[in-house]
Amino acid sequence: MTTLLVRNGRVIDPASGRDGTMDVAVRDGKIVEIGAGLSVSDADRVIDAADRIVAPGLIDPHVHFREPGHEEKETIETGSLAAVAGGFTTVCCMPNTQPALDCPELIRFVYDRAAERAVCRVFPIGAVSKGRAGERLAEISLMHDAGAVGFSDDGDAVASAGLMARALAEVRETGAALMQHCQEPTLTHEAVMHAGVVSTRFGLTGWPRVAEEVIIERDIRLNRDIGCRYHVQHVSSAGSVEIIRRARADGQPVTAEVSPHHLLLTDEAVDRSGAPDAMAKVNPPLREQHDIDALRQGVADGTITVLATDHAPHTSEEKSRPIEDTPFGLIGLEAALALYVKALIEPGLVGWPKLIELMTTSPAALCGLEAKGLGRLTPGGPADLTIIEPEIEWTIGPESLAGKGRNTPFMGWTVKGRAETVVVAGTVRLDRRASTTAGTGAGTVALPVS
Ligand code: DOR
Repeated sequence: MTTLLVRNGRVIDPASGRDGTMDVAVRDGKIVEIGAGLSVSDADRVIDAADRIVAPGLIDPHVHFREPGHEEKETIETGSLAAVAGGFTTVCCMPNTQPALDCPELIRFVYDRAAERAVCRVFPIGAVSKGRAGERLAEISLMHDAGAVGFSDDGDAVASAGLMARALAEVRETGAALMQHCQEPTLTHEAVMHAGVVSTRFGLTGWPRVAEEVIIERDIRLNRDIGCRYHVQHVSSAGSVEIIRRARADGQPVTAEVSPHHLLLTDEAVDRSGAPDAMAKVNPPLREQHDIDALRQGVADGTITVLATDHAPHTSEEKSRPIEDTPFGLIGLEAALALYVKALIEPGLVGWPKLIELMTTSPAALCGLEAKGLGRLTPGGPADLTIIEPEIEWTIGPESLAGKGRNTPFMGWTVKGRAETVVVAGTVRLDRRASTTAGTGAGTVALPVS
């Protein structure tokens, strides 16, 4: 194993409160020392991080890697390349694969495949219900023993109140979080986009905010006497932010995440010069400006504590179908950091230390990864680092994408801030200084992470 010295960066580690110009020394996959003016005489490599931010490796608690079953959209390997290109050293995969991750064997499959092929750490989220069918509970405690770091039927809500009550009780015993995709299905039958003026303009079936809000209200009420850690995935509505804010003020164990697109785009993005644009079809849907304002405010005031991507790759063929027939979902990993800079830092709502907390410490706590030393920089802990160029401007284009998906409504956007170097377990996995072909996997070393 090698010895690495990262010099003169602005080291920001929200977990310890560190924020200053320092060096980080790494040996054999672990951080050995953090401090000013370190001298490491036997360093194999010195990375000059002047004018850069040195952060704990970013963690995304919500990605779709499609393996097993839909490897044409993404694999654990290609998804991990997209993650590293975006500055993520750890991701948590949703279980809506084919078959669904609903038993310990499939949880182990994800770990085994990641160990063979992934360039970042990959943790599985187990399904709440067998086959994600919403009828019978999946093998929650056995999956937890096998390494599932959370539970969700994402892609669908756990719609039955009876099943949800049992799920909350069972997940509580594991100490993990139940992550809910909040969508009351009888209110969203055949829905394609947000229920508003744009859906009316196109004559498309609308997905109203209340379908999200009633599930959150119900679950918080169900959980009141159970006390499971309850996490709201991809919040989209202003009303939801208010419900979550009240529950947290009331001391309920509720957390919430947001995705970049819900902070930057309204339902008008579905109208591309008068025709519906399938690239902007996502679940929950893009809403209206006052929702964006409330979501951003929710992040700024600590109601929403986790920034995710909901990276949801689909093939170009699927995304070129008429909007009613196209699957929901957008990719997110490669551009999320810059899009969060645009949505949150540029308007002055949060600074870099807070942004990094929302992308490291908080998702680590959500998925129980602090126990593994992830999401923070600690001497003796794992050497997962993301070195960020905060001022670089770049344009989101096909050449900046390292996964299989091209389905993003942000194509052509000029953004600021990007991961320049990514270190996972002491190994440099992304090095844009060594490679001019950013994000194509070049510069990443395609070796497994144990
Ligand atoms: O838009 C979405 N796509 N939302 C989800 O909840 C699931 C995801 C997918 O798997 O494609």
